[in-house]
Amino acid sequence: MITGCSSGFGLLSAVGAAREGFEVIATMRNLDKSGPLREALEAAEVKARIEKLDITCPDSIQSAADNFGPVDILVNNAGILIAGSFLDLTEAEMNRVFETNYFGIVRLTRQVAPHMIRRKSGRIINIASLAGLIGHPFNSAYAASKHALIGFSQSIRIELAPFGIDVVSVEPGYHKTEIIGVNANQSENFYNRSGPMFEWNRGFLRAMFEEIIPRAGQPQQVADLIVRILCCEKPNAHYRVGKDAAFAMTLRWFGLFPWLEKQITRKIRKYRRLENQRQAEKQNRRKREKEKYL
Ligand SMILES: NC(=O)c1ccc[n+]([C@@H]2O[C@H](COP(=O)([O-])OP(=O)(O)OC[C@H]3O[C@@H](n4cnc5c(N)ncnc54)[C@H](OP(=O)(O)O)[C@@H]3O)[C@@H](O)[C@H]2O)c1
Repeated sequence: MITGCSSGFGLLSAVGAAREGFEVIATMRNLDKSGPLREALEAAEVKARIEKLDITCPDSIQSAADNFGPVDILVNNAGILIAGSFLDLTEAEMNRVFETNYFGIVRLTRQVAPHMIRRKSGRIINIASLAGLIGHPFNSAYAASKHALIGFSQSIRIELAPFGIDVVSVEPGYHKTEIIGVNANQSENFYNRSGPMFEWNRGFLRAMFEEIIPRAGQPQQVADLIVRILCCEKPNAHYRVGKDAAFAMTLRWFGLFPWLEKQITRKIRKYRRLENQRQAEKQNRRKREKEKYL
């Protein structure tokens, strides 16, 4: 069973797993979004059961547990991101991020694990993030929820080992999926001009567009990794994927992380300045045009 299969890693790994011969239950919170998955399955000439599951809704989780039958492998993939300085995120937004990226996953895992324990076998694959290993400025709720998820994975890995259940944490760097596309949320206060972080939020966003998104990896790489973890005899506790993840963790290993933090601050400062210039030019242009028509 894979959560969040309407797009991105979930969709691609559902198709990849079906191709490998797994009986896949591909779940999503909104079945109206099942078109791309159906098309991808058809193109690959494979089948998967498509079911509704909203991991923030306890009734939806209960109904999945009642109706899907015992699950051999659970891939906790669904996740959301809400960008904005920690000063601008509302309580409701922080809760939404944690409800999806942490509490929803814990709730679903607690429903599924007892069946695995009874059968003395199973595998739980949690899709965390590089943001669960290092800080992620202007995405603090996301980073905190992914740190929590990695802590959860590491803890229950030991609890479930005696029952033959493997728990795996996958920690991808940036990859080109909808989470940095149409699903990328910004805090409702992101553009609050009176806040002290307004220009920094804007600088961060421009840095995302100029530096991060163009260099993000291809999602198929992560989906292929997930399928490899499904197939392998004895998976590792952690898998890091993506050039940025490898780079950041290597720097940390060599004690060079403070250098990386400085580079990130420098970049955001640079794009804050460029955005300020761009906005000032835009305002001047508007003023000149207004004056022309007066
Ligand atoms: N792409 C990256 O750069 C990256 C890097 C590190 C980790 N990740 C993690 O990878 C996982 C998959 O994300 P993605 O990159 O493939 O992005 P994505 O294309 O936006 O996919 C996220 C999926 O999660 C679903 N979802 C959100 N809230 C849900 C809920 N309450 N219940 C059920 N499903 C829900 C979304 O459904 P809707 O379509 O209905 O919104 C969507 O299917 C996430 O956990 C993300 O944090 C991504």
